[in-house]
Amino acid sequence: MRDPWQAQTNLQEDERHRMKIGIIGAGNMGSAFAKRLAAAGHEISITAQDPSHAEQAASAAGGNVRAVAHGQIAAGAELLIVATPYAAAAEALGAAGDVSGKTVIDISNPLSADFSGLTVGFTSSAAEEIQKAVPGARIVKAFNTVFAPVLASGPGATRVQVLFAGDDAAAKEAVRGVIESAGFEPVDAGPLSNARYLEPLGMLNIYLGFMAGRGTGIAPGWQSVG
Ligand SMILES: NC(=O)c1ccc[n+]([C@@H]2O[C@H](COP(=O)([O-])OP(=O)(O)OC[C@H]3O[C@@H](n4cnc5c(N)ncnc54)[C@H](OP(=O)(O)O)[C@@H]3O)[C@@H](O)[C@H]2O)c1
Repeated sequence: MRDPWQAQTNLQEDERHRMKIGIIGAGNMGSAFAKRLAAAGHEISITAQDPSHAEQAASAAGGNVRAVAHGQIAAGAELLIVATPYAAAAEALGAAGDVSGKTVIDISNPLSADFSGLTVGFTSSAAEEIQKAVPGARIVKAFNTVFAPVLASGPGATRVQVLFAGDDAAAKEAVRGVIESAGFEPVDAGPLSNARYLEPLGMLNIYLGFMAGRGTGIAPGWQSVG
C-alpha cells in the first residue's frame, strides 16, 4: 500500500522542482533535455536556428514541450539551458531576449574542429567565457560529462552523476533541483572556475566513448571508498 505521508512528500518535491525551462538548441542534447525534463514534469520551451528542428524536437519529446521563437525563449523561462556548440553559445544567449538574473546551464565542451582537443583551458573555460559575454546571467556548468543517449534514457540501474559548478548559490540550488528531478545524482564541483577541470573531463569522456571504443553508454562517477 502507498504510504500517504511519502506520497505527500513526493508531491511537495515534485512541486518544488517543477520549473519553466527554456532550451536553446534542438540537436542531440537539446532534444534529450526536452524529453527527459518533460518526463520529469517541467514545462519546456525549445528553440533552434532552424525553427523546424525545434518543432521536431518538441513533438518527439511529447509531454509539456513547445517550440518557440528564439527571441522569446528567455522571457518565458525561469532557467535556460544552452545546448548549442560552444562557439555559438554567447551569440545564441545574446539573441534569446533578456537573460539578466536568469540561471543559465552551460553544457558545452569547447572542442576543436577536428575533435582532437579543447580550444579553451588552463586559465579560463568555456563557462567562464560565456559568463563574461553575458555578465548579467548566472552561469552554472553542468551536464558536459553526460552523453546525449545517457541523458535521454534517464534513470537506469546506475544513478549517473552530474557534476555542476557555479558562483551563484541560488542558481546552483536551482540546477541541483533540475538534476535531481531528472533522476541523476548532483555532485557539487565548486566554483565556476572549476569548469576548467570539468571540460577536460568531458573531453576524456569523449575519448573513452569514441576514440577508445567504449560507446556513448558511459558516464564518469566519483565513488566513496572505505
Ligand atoms: N552530444 C553529446 O553527447 C554532448 C554531451 C555533453 C555535452 N555536449 C555539448 O552540448 C552542446 C550541443 O551538442 P549537440 O551534440 O546537441 O549539438 P548538435 O546536435 O549539433 O545541436 C546543436 C543545436 O544548436 C543549434 N544552434 C546552433 N547555433 C545556434 C544559434 N546561434 N542559435 C540557436 N541555436 C543554435 C542548432 O540549431 P539547428 O538545429 O537549427 O541547426 C542545433 O539544434 C555542445 O556544446 C556539446 O559540446 C554534447
